[in-house]
Amino acid sequence: MSTLATFRLDGARALVTGASRGIGQAVALALAEAGAELALSARSAEALKGTAELAVEHGRTVVLVPGDLSTTAVAGQVVDQAAEALGGLDVVVHTAGILPAEPDGTPTMLPLQYLPQPAWDEVVAVNLNATAALCRQAFPYLAASARPSLLLVSSVAGVVGAPMMEAYAATKAAQISLVRSLATGWARHGIRVNALCPGWTRTDMTSFAYDNGPVSDWLTAHVPLGRWARPEEMAPAALFLSSPAAGYLTGQALLVDGGLSTPDGGLAGTPKPPSPFAALA
Ligand SMILES: NC(=O)c1ccc[n+]([C@@H]2O[C@H](COP(=O)([O-])OP(=O)(O)OC[C@H]3O[C@@H](n4cnc5c(N)ncnc54)[C@H](OP(=O)(O)O)[C@@H]3O)[C@@H](O)[C@H]2O)c1
Repeated sequence: MSTLATFRLDGARALVTGASRGIGQAVALALAEAGAELALSARSAEALKGTAELAVEHGRTVVLVPGDLSTTAVAGQVVDQAAEALGGLDVVVHTAGILPAEPDGTPTMLPLQYLPQPAWDEVVAVNLNATAALCRQAFPYLAASARPSLLLVSSVAGVVGAPMMEAYAATKAAQISLVRSLATGWARHGIRVNALCPGWTRTDMTSFAYDNGPVSDWLTAHVPLGRWARPEEMAPAALFLSSPAAGYLTGQALLVDGGLSTPDGGLAGTPKPPSPFAALA
């Protein structure tokens, strides 16, 4: 097989959660382009139609398995429905995730001391509890696959300190921990388990920040590449980690963060604008 051919997923049966928009949509379309048959998940079938229409253009089977992952039982049902519709599962990319939100649903950043317990609980339910339920339910399908891969979309926030995002960061760090434990535990079943850790990426989740000039400037001033990522820039890494090209790679957290997690020891001397968050500290 040529090196490039190892990046293909022809005939692989793949479940992608969080596939209605943002990073999950970009990943789903990359997997379709690489030849995978897809089960797409988000809270509603309606929200998944756009991704499904684009994926079908690649000539793949696409089924919709909607479900609200804030309930762990639903996470299990989503996995079962995907496996039933596709006749098994070879690849799972779990992308669905949330930040704490304002009452109107707008994602927000708020220091832990001001974050109400229900908001913490909601983030833990969707980002961590659903992840565990989904992994548990996916195990028998992946163990029966000839090319199994489980990829959790975590975050650079799970690796570095993330003030004002403590609930989110704790769940993202927990996902990386889960990846390491499952990768070592499930290796004997041939299942590779990895994490993809995006940096600041322009999606609905982060529009509250990139639409706010001072906040956006402050955030990107701490990114060596100096800009936001596009969701499509996460897809190649997700495809790589899910494909035979990464056949000897497991238990890893791949940071695609524009260098954000790389300390420069202060030597880069990049000028930083005043923090718009100073009043919140
Ligand atoms: N954007 C960034 O800067 C960034 C950085 C690092 C990591 N990440 C991670 O990347 C992943 C995707 O983020 P994104 O920026 O693409 O976010 P996004 O645009 O807000 O998309 C979130 C996705 O998750 C789904 N989702 C949310 N709550 C759900 C629930 N309760 N049940 C089922 N599905 C649910 C959404 O589907 P519906 O709303 O249609 O149901 C949507 O498909 C997340 O895990 C996030 O933590 C993002």
